[in-house]
Amino acid sequence: MQVYVYRNEEQVAQAAAMIFASQISAKPNLVLGLATGTTPIPTYQRLIAMNREGLIDFSQVRSYNLDEYVGLEPNHPASYRYFMNAQLFDHVNIDKANTHVPSGLGDVEKNAEAYDAAIEEAGGIDLQLLGIGHNGHIGFNEPNPRAFIYKTNVVTLTPSTIQANARLFEKEEDVPRQAISLGIGGIMNARRIILLATGRGKAQAVRDAVQGDITPLLPASILKAHRNVQFLLDAEAASLL
Ligand code: GLP
Repeated sequence: MQVYVYRNEEQVAQAAAMIFASQISAKPNLVLGLATGTTPIPTYQRLIAMNREGLIDFSQVRSYNLDEYVGLEPNHPASYRYFMNAQLFDHVNIDKANTHVPSGLGDVEKNAEAYDAAIEEAGGIDLQLLGIGHNGHIGFNEPNPRAFIYKTNVVTLTPSTIQANARLFEKEEDVPRQAISLGIGGIMNARRIILLATGRGKAQAVRDAVQGDITPLLPASILKAHRNVQFLLDAEAASLL
């Protein structure tokens, strides 16, 4: 694991976007693993700008998002499909047919199984972008006292995650209690992982992930066992290291 500390979130975004640019130029049909949340938004804005400037070509890129809420239609403003369209896909030359977000509708168990199979068929994820939850979750893999969950699965969100994500809904009761998420195995199978964390609120989770033991109580701690992972942090997120 390599840890890079930048002065602010703009510099984190610039560094992340440069990694995307170099990987896509080396492999134009790169398979991206993408994340939602507030943290990657500046990176997506850099990618949009670089695409406009002709520095990144998304025409052959394929993408698989980490997660989606159970029960939200893709056109619900708080759904992760909606987020990805609004924050990135609508503004770059990616073919929407090549973008994938797990479906939280219908038979979600079946969707979960099909999602892993689809990623495998695409050749696996080349570059996985991650954020981190305050409790150390990655994707929607919440702390679990027993084990890391390997496959894409339906998860029950913790009260702290529901509370943290309530800002994107009208009221806390509207936040779905369940989500479908790429599992820890799916994340660890990615050839390269970059985790972004910004702000003081992430400092403890970052510290525990980087310096603590590997434990399913802090899902991001497993990343230490990956051979090609970089944490890109701003000074505040790195303040407890
Ligand atoms: C959600 C997402 C995660 C994300 C986390 C942190 O729970 N499922 O993928 O990393 O929130 O979000 P933020 O970047 O807004 O702090």
